Amino acid sequence: MATQEELYEKLRHVKVGSPLCEFTEEHCGQLLPTIRRIEELKREHNAVILAHNYVAPEILYGVADFTGDSYGLSKAAKGTSADVIVFAAVRFMAETAKILNPEKTVINPNPNPGCTLADAITAEDVARLREQFPDHTFVCYINTTAEVKAYCDVCVTSSNVYQIIEAIENDNIYFLPDRLMGLNVIHHLQAKGINKNIELFNGTCYVHEEYESDSVDFVRKNNPGVEILVHPECKPEVVQKADYVGSTTGMLNHVRGSGNESFFLLTECGLTGVLQTEYPEKRFVGSCTLCKYMKSNSLQDILQVLERPRAADVIELSPEVQQKALRCIEAMFELVEKQ
Ligand code: 13P
Ligand code: SF4
Repeated sequence: MATQEELYEKLRHVKVGSPLCEFTEEHCGQLLPTIRRIEELKREHNAVILAHNYVAPEILYGVADFTGDSYGLSKAAKGTSADVIVFAAVRFMAETAKILNPEKTVINPNPNPGCTLADAITAEDVARLREQFPDHTFVCYINTTAEVKAYCDVCVTSSNVYQIIEAIENDNIYFLPDRLMGLNVIHHLQAKGINKNIELFNGTCYVHEEYESDSVDFVRKNNPGVEILVHPECKPEVVQKADYVGSTTGMLNHVRGSGNESFFLLTECGLTGVLQTEYPEKRFVGSCTLCKYMKSNSLQDILQVLERPRAADVIELSPEVQQKALRCIEAMFELVEKQ
């Protein structure tokens, strides 16, 4: 279990926008009683904590057993032998863990149920679209509810969307709900000489759609040699200017393997925080774009759901939705494993 000094050593390089948000040794000391109680409860309940790369550093470094992108966390959820999974991320990710583990208790500690992508489309929308496009394979981004997944054929994440859509035999694809990611897929395939008939829904991520290609030009001009990493939820004109495009874990691993000294990450700024702790000597050109949904996770709420989860915190799915959504997620694992 971490001491105050060890926790401070991990967190002291994180700069979340302003000096008020930096971790002091005293602040780390104040976090410790909650972290210790969470660790005790994890042992008592045979629980694991999965945390997305965007959540607050005190969760990533204080209590998480697995951290990662949505694909890595789904795999961790699939492979765990714990009885209880506490999923610190957004609700659809906890639902995915429940789809993969219907017999386990899966708890969402996040009191804010949203994500602008998952909220963009309902199961009724997909049912209507399936009637309109009967010859299309329906591919859903993982940022969708379990009910939407239940109506789709294959799930994808930012780490495999390009390869899966390329591998699907049907050339008629309906991709939902992220329109910008869909446009990026179309450009990626066209650059390889592949022309599929891809229909798109009109959802967007409010964090990633904010970035403009002018900002990329500005940062490049003022930071010679900077490496620019972009998430595929960004606009195509931004993605086209990137040195690297990939999932959150893809970006972390790219920086880990790069000899470069300065980086600009066009994604939620939690990722820059992770890299500042690992590479305090490297330079990360700042953009402080927070996802209000991911940042709604707190140590206090994790403690509360381990002590006394409320009915709304525990993920419950109807057996029909769970089984149909499982087929959609398993189709993703099969296509990734085939590559
Ligand atoms: P990753 O799977 O790349 O972590 O993306 C999840 C997400 O919500 C990005 O906004
Ligand atoms: Fe959803 Fe965007 Fe937040 Fe990711 S960053 S959880 S896509 S709102």
